[in-house]
Amino acid sequence: MSRKPIIIDTDPGIDDAVALAIALFNEELDVRLITTVNGNVGLEKVTYNTLRLLKFFDKQIPVAKGASTPLIKDPVDASNVHGETGMDGYDFEEPDESLLLDEHAVNAMHKEIMNSQEKITLVPIGPLTNIAVLFKLYPEVKENIAEIVLMGGSTGRGNVTVMAEFNIYADPEAAKIVFSSGLPIVMAGLDVGQKALVYPEDSEELKDMNDTGNMIYHLFKKYRGGSFNKGLKMYDSCAVAYLLKPNLFETVDTYVDIELNAEFTKGATIVDLKGYLKQQNNAKVCIDIDADEFKKWFMENIKKCK
Ligand code: RIB
Ligand code: CA
Repeated sequence: MSRKPIIIDTDPGIDDAVALAIALFNEELDVRLITTVNGNVGLEKVTYNTLRLLKFFDKQIPVAKGASTPLIKDPVDASNVHGETGMDGYDFEEPDESLLLDEHAVNAMHKEIMNSQEKITLVPIGPLTNIAVLFKLYPEVKENIAEIVLMGGSTGRGNVTVMAEFNIYADPEAAKIVFSSGLPIVMAGLDVGQKALVYPEDSEELKDMNDTGNMIYHLFKKYRGGSFNKGLKMYDSCAVAYLLKPNLFETVDTYVDIELNAEFTKGATIVDLKGYLKQQNNAKVCIDIDADEFKKWFMENIKKCK
């Protein structure tokens, strides 16, 4: 079975860390490059966290640092959810800085995509700044991209403002560029992320499962993406889950646009399920998930980690 070549663009972030673990230890995926973007916390911290995770996982994947600010708006921060470091709760070893490329994420993505024999799948699980700049600087990459499977957006209410989800809200102009790119997009948003839950009993099981489970157990003690007793939300793992087990999801092909100008709804994904806007479909939107099967899949995949 050929492995699916992917590039993960990320802002670790505790739920990013879990999604990276699953992607890096699953034999079906070939993680070619990891790029970092300002999001949950600042660029230096998310990059440091990515490198610390690779050291922990003992995985030699190249990392390239990307955008330190959104295209236009001021940076937002989610340290209230992930802690000051962006990955509070576990005492990681110092990273292997040699994995950090000395070129910008956009240039590293351009090179990896254009040199790949097979089409690459992009897996953005943070704000879309790097992806937007990639398409503007190097539109030719679209010829060698299979699809974009992203965590972001919502058909309904938000998790950072009344109507906006964090990754889209953090850089709505970038999201507008990505959703109008013409590439196949799968949007794994809050509709599924808020049902992809891990409960205290699951966390206890993780604690003694393996090194990765134990690390995640400790991160979960600090993670505020949901409440421990009502379930911690595995937002970013939904994007990886779609890559590996798409039948976990109910999807609809529809038109998605991004609100850029409204006072209260800037950053909202406008998911036109009834076709009022009379636009061509531009995304496959995940509207539901089999939560029980997701949990089984999640635990099975953490078991595959070191
Ligand atoms: O809204 C959830 C998303 O925002 C996740 O990717 C989380 O890591 C944060 O980036
Ligand atoms: Ca993220």
